[in-house]
Amino acid sequence: MTTRIAFAGSGYIAKVHARAAGKLAGLELAAVVNHRPESMTAFATEFGVTRQYATVDEMLAGGGVDALVVSTPNYLHASQAIAALEAGVHVMVEKPMAMSAAEASAMVAAGQRFGALLMVAHCWRFDQEARWVREQVVSGRIGEVVRTKGYGVHVNWGPGGWFTQKRLAGGGAVADMGIHAIDTARFLLGDPRPVSVYARIGTYYQEFDVDDTGVIAVNWDNGAVSIVEAGWWQPHADGATASTRLYGRRGMASLFPTGLVLTDARKQQIERVDSGFPAVRKEHYPQAMYDAQMAYFVDCIRANQTPVPGGAEGWVNMQIVDAAYESSRTGAVVETGG
Ligand SMILES: NC(=O)c1ccc[n+]([C@@H]2O[C@H](COP(=O)([O-])OP(=O)(O)OC[C@H]3O[C@@H](n4cnc5c(N)ncnc54)[C@H](O)[C@@H]3O)[C@@H](O)[C@H]2O)c1
Repeated sequence: MTTRIAFAGSGYIAKVHARAAGKLAGLELAAVVNHRPESMTAFATEFGVTRQYATVDEMLAGGGVDALVVSTPNYLHASQAIAALEAGVHVMVEKPMAMSAAEASAMVAAGQRFGALLMVAHCWRFDQEARWVREQVVSGRIGEVVRTKGYGVHVNWGPGGWFTQKRLAGGGAVADMGIHAIDTARFLLGDPRPVSVYARIGTYYQEFDVDDTGVIAVNWDNGAVSIVEAGWWQPHADGATASTRLYGRRGMASLFPTGLVLTDARKQQIERVDSGFPAVRKEHYPQAMYDAQMAYFVDCIRANQTPVPGGAEGWVNMQIVDAAYESSRTGAVVETGG
């Protein structure tokens, strides 16, 4: 049976998703939504999309859509996703899934109430190298993970437009890039829950009302602690986006560059394990990662299976982001309940 998929937004990442969807068998690129007709028409022409609508509500009223990919500015994610879920249309929503954990919770509730699936596009979970690192952690090669250190940092660059306006984006570098590193840490650790969060967040490099710099410490319910750095316009990054290191009792696993360092304290030995991936990637955001993400979303729809990362995982990430902003505002550690 053909799965009919629609796109809200026709900008940068919507095109990446449409390219991924176009490669899948049994998928019809049925509709696109944007209030800007030029952008929408160009998108429809490029990807052979049949129908165009100015709003998600008009599209839903038209019917004939099984799933919606929400790739609009962050302030629209919750309302567009909830409208679709209430119409029984499955949703894959871009990160950050919402402006706040409260909005994320309403999205999860709508999916449950109306029996529609909600996936959050935390794309690094579909990256081959991230999956390799996760397998090493699961197999116990580095032992119990004690701490992680990860980054979501742009050097000498940052986005413009709606990304830098609080009322449209919710937050700045922490909401945009920090959430990648937060989700990557959670994925590699096996989705622990946050017990408490401490953060320092500020704006130091540009004039806008969102943050460009953040350092976050998260205590997890499995006893590990994660340090996450987020930034735009930074003078330096220790690693590429979502670059993460996990320090275990028997070694260290690194994502970007990807490999292991295994240690034996008693024998004073160190062994380096090459992952086989190139030390520097040609493309840091390969289309293949988004292809795998889209294929998984469609598989979940066809099998009626709850996606992971779904609303539940995205919601936890939003709780951490909210707690980080609160901690930075108050100077206190924020208890998140675990
Ligand atoms: N996972 C990733 O790698 C990744 C990369 C980039 C962006 N993103 C996320 O994707 C989302 C979109 O980012 P982008 O870079 O594609 O932004 P963008 O500005 O390129 O695209 C946003 C699109 O939404 C459209 N839009 C605005 N208001 C609308 C409305 N009311 N209805 C329908 N469409 C509307 C705009 O016209 C534009 O086509 C953001 O949440 C961002 O954080 C994720």
